[in-house]
Amino acid sequence: MELNPTILAKLIVLVRKHTGIAMTERKSVLLERRLRPRMQALSLSSYQDYLDRVERDGAEIPHFIDLVTTNDTLFFRTPQVWDYFAGRYLPDWWAAHHGKTLHIWSAAAASGEELYSIAMLCEQFKLGTPAFRYHIHATDISQQILGQAAAGQYEGRSVERLQSSHPDLFKKYFIVTGKVARVPDELKKHVSFGQHNLLQPLRPAQRFDLIFLRNVLIYFDIEHQKTVLQQARHSMAPHARLILGESETISRLETAYQFEQTMIYKLDEAAA
Ligand SMILES: C[S@@+](CC[C@H](N)C(=O)[O-])C[C@H]1O[C@@H](n2cnc3c(N)ncnc32)[C@H](O)[C@@H]1O
Repeated sequence: MELNPTILAKLIVLVRKHTGIAMTERKSVLLERRLRPRMQALSLSSYQDYLDRVERDGAEIPHFIDLVTTNDTLFFRTPQVWDYFAGRYLPDWWAAHHGKTLHIWSAAAASGEELYSIAMLCEQFKLGTPAFRYHIHATDISQQILGQAAAGQYEGRSVERLQSSHPDLFKKYFIVTGKVARVPDELKKHVSFGQHNLLQPLRPAQRFDLIFLRNVLIYFDIEHQKTVLQQARHSMAPHARLILGESETISRLETAYQFEQTMIYKLDEAAA
């Protein structure tokens, strides 16, 4: 089975159409490796046949999206973000919004490590401020990865890294059975899940106090980065903050966002 340049180009167009992800021809080996098991499962003998299937059969599109998205993530990825969230964001928010519920959106949540990191720190914050309430809405374009996030069961690298970076939180918040560490209902009850493409408006519409939009803009070209940021803006309360990944900078894009500190943005006053 060979992925020739013509079919590769057509697949790249389909990836962009369904996810916004800008792939280059250099990803051909990656695409081959990811699509091949699915083609075998469908008894398709060529990439052309698979291309036809995706183009003609809407039911195949969610599988295609699952295969072409990259879902790498970790608990407490990028420590500065968590220092900011626990040390500055939560106390400031609470001082300004006493008695209200904090609404957070983990957009591009992948397998959920980010949203449960948020939940653990919210629980910790609640220890000193028992009236504090929070809700996390977690979305991703991939149904399959979102299912993993909702299951909240982890093993391997994710768990090993968490055990060494935050042993106390791991011990306190996870239920371990053999090699599997499970998130308790105590954390899950604060989370809702929904499939969502960041290029489209979030439905139902909602205004969040804080949006984690990390390590996903890197997959888009500038045009789609701007679209995602425009959409996210409609989901932000006037005082909200947007958190990006460490290798993502949007200052050159002329958006409605104003740099606050590394990785943290707020809405321009005119846009808020
Ligand atoms: C590398 S993971 C980032 C996970 C997490 N935010 C973090 O920083 O660790 C990127 C995620 O973006 C999702 N994604 C890609 N394109 C998307 C789109 N158009 N809309 C929503 N999610 C998308 C992928 O499915 C993947 O789970």
